[in-house]
Amino acid sequence: MPRTSICSRTSDNRSDGADGPGVGMAVFSRNKDGRRSILRTARAQQACGMRDQRAPLHTPFTAASTATDVLDGLDLSGRRAIVTGGHSRLGREVTRALASAGASVTVAARNPDRAAAALDGMLGLAIEPLDLTDPASVEAFARPWLDGRPLHILINNAAVLFNPQLQRDRRGHELAFSTSHLGHFHLTQALIPALTAARGARVVNVTSGAARIGQIRWDDIDFTTGYDPVAAYAQSKRANVLFTVELDRRYAAVGIRALAVHPGVIIGPGPHRPEVLSSLRDQGLVDEQGKTIIDPAAGKKTIEQGAASIVLGAASPLLDGIGGVYLKDCDVAVIDDEERPMTADSIPADANSAMLDPDDARRLWDLTEELVRAR
Ligand SMILES: NC(=O)c1ccc[n+]([C@@H]2O[C@H](COP(=O)([O-])OP(=O)(O)OC[C@H]3O[C@@H](n4cnc5c(N)ncnc54)[C@H](OP(=O)(O)O)[C@@H]3O)[C@@H](O)[C@H]2O)c1
Repeated sequence: MPRTSICSRTSDNRSDGADGPGVGMAVFSRNKDGRRSILRTARAQQACGMRDQRAPLHTPFTAASTATDVLDGLDLSGRRAIVTGGHSRLGREVTRALASAGASVTVAARNPDRAAAALDGMLGLAIEPLDLTDPASVEAFARPWLDGRPLHILINNAAVLFNPQLQRDRRGHELAFSTSHLGHFHLTQALIPALTAARGARVVNVTSGAARIGQIRWDDIDFTTGYDPVAAYAQSKRANVLFTVELDRRYAAVGIRALAVHPGVIIGPGPHRPEVLSSLRDQGLVDEQGKTIIDPAAGKKTIEQGAASIVLGAASPLLDGIGGVYLKDCDVAVIDDEERPMTADSIPADANSAMLDPDDARRLWDLTEELVRAR
């Protein structure tokens, strides 16, 4: 794994013509032979007018990199972070990795006792109650963060995944949309003063490749008819990406950058429930014996690999100066507008233009503001 080190602006950096206002930091990678080579930061590339925001950065990391690899050598002490659902699976690994790198992490959980049990043994964490489907809970969670101190990293990770039954929150909103989108939109809005105070904050919205197929049901967002677990999940994940695009457009100027991240497909080590085994086998996610298949290049990842792109978005200087993008496999994803079916060998998860559409992003923002205001 290449090691990265960070330095402030140097003559090396200037020598490649990357100097100028806002260039910031240069990143070096150590090659196999031990020599250093500069990986330009996105900010440096932009200062030179070199890069399209939505093009891959060619980071030194890959689909197989882990959260530990990505944060190796980075010191996050003094940075304050919130991870929603930061006690289970991907969220737990993100919490562990950020805390190990020195960040002060608050886990936001609807059941703090359950979260504390799941995080047993991890030191230096705070756990605070948050039910994303309850506006009063969101506001109560955010209140202590409005004391003027900065929030550097907000990871909107919690979600309801493929809920087999239609469920609604107390306001009547479909549960996946309410949790993943409405709750995180409201939370992020409430935390804007703290994010602004960081003078360089990252908001990571954990989405999914399902955003490719997600349709925002503008006329029936809450599934008064035709509930389908995949459509509901995919709508909520498309909303995460559109929210990222508009959040970044509105707040980049005050130093808040937003990134959407697809972690990969992570079913965990198992053992898996017998009733889901045949479906997992059909999707190419377990072998004949029911053992989890790990093939990161095909998107099938361990929890540690899945958390890598999330912490890259949250803390890596490689992402300095960019936002409003969709990451996967530890890089900005390419845009692929072909329709691609999911098969046992292939899980389409690149970006597409529809999920990043700025007009849809504005439209969803306006609608969401109304829904959150109406309570
Ligand atoms: N796993 C995958 O294959 C995969 C693939 C693509 C994208 N993702 C995305 O990655 C993220 C994490 O997924 P995961 O697989 O790690 O999921 P997970 O283990 O099911 O975690 C979901 C978390 O959300 C929390 N949550 C649910 N409703 C909540 C509410 N009303 N208020 C506060 N927290 C709530 C849950 O808390 P409780 O413990 O209280 O239930 C749990 O901690 C999600 O955004 C998911 O869409 C996952």
